[in-house]
Amino acid sequence: MSRSSRLSGFYRLPLAERRARMAEALDIDSDLLASLDDGGLDLDAANDLIENVVGTYALPLGLGLNFRVNGKDFLVPMCVEEPSVVAAASNAARMVRAGGGFLAEADPPIMIAQVELREVPDLERAEAAIAAATPELLAAADRVLGKLVERGGGARGVVPRRLGERDLVVHLEIDCRDAMGANLVNGVAEALAPRLGELAQAKVGLRILSNLADRRCVRVRAFVSAAALACAGLPGAEVAAAIAAASRFAELDPYRAATHNKGIMNGVDAVALAIGNDWRGIEAGAHAFAARSGRYRPLSTWSATPDGLEGRLELPMAVGTVGGALRVHRGARLSLAILAADGAQEVACVIGAVGLAANLAALRALATEGIQRGHMELHARSVARGVGAEGDLVARVAAELARAGDFKPERAQAILASLRAASTGGLT
Ligand code: MEV
Repeated sequence: MSRSSRLSGFYRLPLAERRARMAEALDIDSDLLASLDDGGLDLDAANDLIENVVGTYALPLGLGLNFRVNGKDFLVPMCVEEPSVVAAASNAARMVRAGGGFLAEADPPIMIAQVELREVPDLERAEAAIAAATPELLAAADRVLGKLVERGGGARGVVPRRLGERDLVVHLEIDCRDAMGANLVNGVAEALAPRLGELAQAKVGLRILSNLADRRCVRVRAFVSAAALACAGLPGAEVAAAIAAASRFAELDPYRAATHNKGIMNGVDAVALAIGNDWRGIEAGAHAFAARSGRYRPLSTWSATPDGLEGRLELPMAVGTVGGALRVHRGARLSLAILAADGAQEVACVIGAVGLAANLAALRALATEGIQRGHMELHARSVARGVGAEGDLVARVAAELARAGDFKPERAQAILASLRAASTGGLT
């Protein structure tokens, strides 16, 4: 089914109508839609998922709108507690969409499992023995992988790397298809480690995947016209230049690069969490990749073009659409159904696009009026709720806070008290 990710006026609808609009736009099982009410994880399932369970813990699930990636529209499930992430990414996606949308490519889903070999007596001989045994090792790995091989995945490479005078690590490269693959590749590492130890005449050390999944990267590009960028009374070309300057700042300074990358991960993690993926693994991979040159660098760069702005992003994206928490978490399965991507590589492309959109929105705000005003306006609803506002009073207190430009709880309390007094005609 072809669908549009442009749901105009969506944010203004009451929550129940937003759900109805989403259901109308999608073709989703009503059982799965029920997860919107209970978070998609009942206590029994939670109890089977981790240890010492005492309950479940909820976060908001929102829809990232306007995303077009490689010519296809996606409604993007985003799970995040920070105000403005969903709105800002959707806004940036709208600007990019006007220029044709995001262009993205994902590497084949190859994960790396590491087998550490210690006290190797002769590194050269060990490497030669491992190279000669590679067909045997690949076949042994494929036997461990079983059904994955039938689905088109399997072992692809055996690559030794020298770590020191007497230390080798062997990378087993496994195509995991639509799985994130942690259990698969850890199983292969453990199964092959004794033979690798024998070949290298070495002691076997750790056997575990690497979260620096740099064989499984996603690359995204976006073009934004100058006209689309104009804001805060500034012409678009000036905004484009200011965003390019902000990008250079991140290239020059690791302190800024960390925050620049945090803005990207605001979008990336929100989608990864919504679809039940290991966002800690993605975070670890992103930051290790950002530091791969020996210096911590931004994962994206922006440069001004004659007509506007071009952005590029690259980072490892180890995500799966089968297995893991998806087996038990209905909410994650619902999110995947909303996303309706065709396999893990397409999911990786969309997540990359959301990361670049979140980054663009942050840089545009920072390079023009600053982040605080918009952020605080969205935060105002939480402040209002925090002082006890309910129902329509939440929006009214939030609006008053925004008008006053003061978002302190004491101010919210005073506004709430006066609105309540007004509605009871002063009678308490
Ligand atoms: C806040 O969550 C993210 C930003 O700090 C990102 C950035 O500075 O680029 C606004």
